[in-house]
Amino acid sequence: MDKALYAAAQTALKNAYVKYSNFPVGAALRLKNGEIITGVNVENASYGLSNCAERTALFTAYAKGYRKEDILEIVVTTDKDYAVSPCGACRQVMGELILPDAPVHIADAKGNVTTVKNKELLPHAFTEEHLPR
Ligand code: THU
Repeated sequence: MDKALYAAAQTALKNAYVKYSNFPVGAALRLKNGEIITGVNVENASYGLSNCAERTALFTAYAKGYRKEDILEIVVTTDKDYAVSPCGACRQVMGELILPDAPVHIADAKGNVTTVKNKELLPHAFTEEHLPR
């Protein structure tokens, strides 16, 4: 995993808005053009409306005009001594917005990393292929 990418995610998580869980998460995407785009979890008093760090980063990238072909890899990290794996909602979104073979790095606060391919996170996913044309 790219060290600058991990550092960006660790720095970003300090801005997590986690009033309810007190569980900051940071995510960072590395793009083909060298740009790094970060995201954090942003919570809400209506808990279900909270947005995870991975989706914040991805929606930011797409809002800037980037698409899946532009994204090389993603890291998700916390301030804990254990790593967290993307939730089901994020796996669904990542399945559509990141290429299947792109690496997903799951890293703890010490820098220990587990890497999987995006496509490994959500087998038998519902995709646009299932929608009638
Ligand atoms: N969370 C993330 O942002 N990413 C993950 O991969 C797992 C969970 C957030 C959602 C919520 O704000 C907090 O962590 C506790 O569930």
